[in-house]
Amino acid sequence: MLKNVAILTSGGDAPGMNVVCSIAIKYLISLNITPYLIYNGFKGIINKEFKKGSIKFANHIFNLGGSIIKSARFVEFEQKKVQEQAAQNLKELGIDALIVVGGDGSFIGASKLEQFNIKCIGIPASIDNDICASEYSIGFDTCLNTIKKAIMQIYDTSYSHHRCMIIETMGRNCGDLAFYGGLATNAKIIIISKLKIAKKDLIAKIKQIKEFENIIIVVSEHLYDCVQLAKEIEQETKIVTRANVLSHIQRGGAPSAFDAILATKLTIFAIEQLIIKNKSNVFVGIKNNCLITTPISENTNVNDSKTKQFQKYLKTWNLIQNIKN
Ligand code: F6P
Repeated sequence: MLKNVAILTSGGDAPGMNVVCSIAIKYLISLNITPYLIYNGFKGIINKEFKKGSIKFANHIFNLGGSIIKSARFVEFEQKKVQEQAAQNLKELGIDALIVVGGDGSFIGASKLEQFNIKCIGIPASIDNDICASEYSIGFDTCLNTIKKAIMQIYDTSYSHHRCMIIETMGRNCGDLAFYGGLATNAKIIIISKLKIAKKDLIAKIKQIKEFENIIIVVSEHLYDCVQLAKEIEQETKIVTRANVLSHIQRGGAPSAFDAILATKLTIFAIEQLIIKNKSNVFVGIKNNCLITTPISENTNVNDSKTKQFQKYLKTWNLIQNIKN
């Protein structure tokens, strides 16, 4: 039976990470297991930033945005000697298992600890929704709601002035935020890496839109320099065009109801798999509304896999977005 289990958050923070910590602390205490919080991700293991979790702390953090135990990217963890040091520090405290909350990179780091007899389970949390072991990652829904709210506000002013607005979302290599952000707001044009079009074709497409109140274009990050793109569109089409890079506003905020519930379900399931089913080196996730586990080795990096399901309807979507009376 495990005696001490630690939890850390790693990678870009995501709304709902605190829900995972909160539920994990309470569930572990109920099983007579001591929950340890590791501050600052994997770096915190090396720097021995451990604190015991309490019920008071768990109840306080549930609804807060960000990661209260802080999150970090720590590339040094790829080095064998750093992994050895981490394992030694965990063992000194009698920690036999680690719950890692984050994205792909975080789990690959964690899985290295198994060779030192430290069990590990991953809970997917990332606004990017780029973890293929789960249809939804914790934080994606909250972020999407932030994007929707921002686009709707930008819509209001663009309507008043007959303007074209480019909105750039985050997502790293995954287009889900831009794609679903665009679908959720009735955008005229959505551009993600799989659906990228050359600037000249985009400008031609805008020129074809003859009667319009406003034009909303949602673009995934890293595809264009949006400020430059806005200038070129304005120059070529004579439509006043502005770029709105949403940036880090997308990562903050209290978790939506969907994310809080998803985080609760995934955490209870993860602890059950770890403690009762004795599983290790797996991600938990949700697919077709069922809670599942996937070996960490089988999780390949995902680019818009969920978008694929909708691709057959894209032609229709594009058509109806540009239909005239
Ligand atoms: O992975 C989350 C994410 O917000 C990505 O969407 C984005 O590309 C990246 O992190 C930004 O990282 P940073 O906050 O280090 O600039």
